[in-house]
Amino acid sequence: MTPKVSLTGIKPSGTPHIGNYFGAIKPALQLVKDYEARYFIADYHALNTIRDAETLRNYTYDLAAVWLACGLNPEKVLFYRQSDVPETFELTTILMAFTSKGLMNRAHAYKAMVQENLEKGNDPDEGVNMGLFTYPVLMAADILLFDTNVVPVGKDQKQHVEMTADIAKAVNYTYQQDLLVIPEPLISEGTQTIVGMDGRKMSKSYNNVIPLFLPSKNFRKTIMKIVTNSQSIEEPKDPENCSVFALYKLFATAEEQTAMAERYRAGGMGWGEAKQALFELMEREIAPLREKYDDLINDRAYLDNVLKEGAEKARIIATATIGRLRKATGIAR
Ligand code: ADP
Ligand code: TRP
Repeated sequence: MTPKVSLTGIKPSGTPHIGNYFGAIKPALQLVKDYEARYFIADYHALNTIRDAETLRNYTYDLAAVWLACGLNPEKVLFYRQSDVPETFELTTILMAFTSKGLMNRAHAYKAMVQENLEKGNDPDEGVNMGLFTYPVLMAADILLFDTNVVPVGKDQKQHVEMTADIAKAVNYTYQQDLLVIPEPLISEGTQTIVGMDGRKMSKSYNNVIPLFLPSKNFRKTIMKIVTNSQSIEEPKDPENCSVFALYKLFATAEEQTAMAERYRAGGMGWGEAKQALFELMEREIAPLREKYDDLINDRAYLDNVLKEGAEKARIIATATIGRLRKATGIAR
């Protein structure tokens, strides 16, 4: 039996953080053994927000180095940059014809923006560009171009994958053929939402992220700044409502988790000590990856080459999908 396809993309729109690592990168890499994996850098999605060429370029290299440092093996995983696969944009145009505007009106990111405008008394579409409005169609093209069965993503992306399935069904129904594979989201349970420095969801938009690959010293400094309450050292503490413990759990074995929870409840451990323990545990997992990252980020020629080879392989699959659709739609003569 041919393995099912797992595909996901991350936008190069900021420095990758612990939330991306646990919510997207790690679960995606765990699927590699059971799935045919296709992972990419969604640079055209980032263009909606990043309007400085050098910044976009740097974030793109950064994300490539992060994926590889975290263990993506380009011999096993098809790894490429969205913009290197122009068939994506042809498929986007095809899918546009099958996507109702009403569906896009319901997309979370757009709806949130409209809501914000209304609350401020602005025009509802103030600051909304067509890239944001049609974001789910480009994402559908990314997914459908590669015959994807599962899309490992965080909870926030579930709706986009469901929209992709709706659009694909509309195409298949129209031509009464299984032209496109219907994908489903794959949301890793244990790590649904990683908390940030302030206890809210870790997100670039909230400015509360712990970047994945800071130099060790700065990494420690960042961890020491995680917001906690004002309980004294002696007081027993509740591990369940604590960002430090929530992060600790991600890196700890079951025994380490139990031991730390006991120390919380016993009292006598201050926040500084808890954070230091968190830092040491994080270092255990992150430090070896950081070393690889530091080498990779300084070797742009290598990164270019990996992405170029990935793009060549990706385009073989992409061309086949587009060929199928051109024929079915009558665009091909
Ligand atoms: P951000 O919210 O920082 O802008 P992105 O939207 O670029 O992050 O997310 C890239 C990937 O990482 C997505 O699959 C997303 O679901 C996942 N992700 C981001 N933040 C978190 C988080 N705090 N917890 C779990 N997954 C996350
Ligand atoms: N929209 C995703 C995000 O914001 C990134 C993305 C673009 C993506 N295309 C994709 C994710 C295709 C999965 C599959 O995180």
